[in-house]
Amino acid sequence: MKLFANILLAALMGVVASASFAADEHAAAPAAAVAKPAKPDPAKGDTVFNATPANSQSCASCHNADGNSAIAANPKLAQQHPEYILKQLQDFKSGARKSAIMKPLASALSDEDMRNIAWFVGSKKVKTGFSKDKDTIALGEKIYRGGIGDRQIPACAGCHSPNGAGIPAQYPRLGGQNAEYTIAQLTAFRENVRNNSIPMTGVAAKLNDREIKAVADYIAGLR
Ligand code: HEC
Ligand code: HEC
Repeated sequence: MKLFANILLAALMGVVASASFAADEHAAAPAAAVAKPAKPDPAKGDTVFNATPANSQSCASCHNADGNSAIAANPKLAQQHPEYILKQLQDFKSGARKSAIMKPLASALSDEDMRNIAWFVGSKKVKTGFSKDKDTIALGEKIYRGGIGDRQIPACAGCHSPNGAGIPAQYPRLGGQNAEYTIAQLTAFRENVRNNSIPMTGVAAKLNDREIKAVADYIAGLR
């Protein structure tokens, strides 16, 4: 009888123990849900962006101190939507977007660095450029504003907005971007070399080289 009572007691204690464990788990849940990333700090982003790490170049050496890359092959980052910049840095790090240059650089950044940098460059004003090719500007404008209906190429303006400012946080700013960079990206989407965006793979699939050049040159002058 005593043995039975002991077993019963042990079982009861087990129930009590697991009940209080469940209660603890329950109490811990809301605490985990509020553990969101800290508010981005653009001043810290500025410091990391302009610092020269050992064995590596600063971000600023290729993208300029304020994100207005002067080198045509490198994208301007200034005034870009921070959420888009953050996604690109995560995609470079994970390999979802391939770049031999950006992969090691993005991999060295913590999530916090990425957020701080994204909000830093996003706070800078973009230096807009100019369209250079008079012969293709009308074609570029037509594609950007209206698309090419009979080949199911949608208007870029529909997602990237008529003035190229994009729509935060989903659609990146394009206005003023270096044409050489835009040509490389549209070609990479078309050839499936850049495949981190299903909508853009579809958009670029049907554009020929001449159309890509024309729309990229139009975008460079968009403001
Ligand atoms: C050696 C030059 C170089 C350095 C240094 C460099 N970048 Fe880049 N960056 C590039 C090039 C080139 C690309 C375009 C990559 C591609 O898609 O081919 C790029 C692309 C990017 C993009 C994507 C922009 C977009 O519009 O999609 C971001 C964001 C970026 N770099 C941030 C950074 C940050 C942050 C650093 C420092 C940690 C950095 N870069 C350092 C050359 C550089
Ligand atoms: C259905 C919406 C949609 C349409 C239409 C669209 N885009 Fe995009 N575009 C996107 C999205 C979303 C991204 C961001 C991709 C990512 O997250 O990496 C993007 C990214 C881009 C980029 C890369 C920007 C960078 O900094 O690397 C370029 C260039 C671009 N689009 C050009 C165009 C052009 C040119 C057209 C018209 C021919 C067009 N897009 C039409 C949705 C669209």
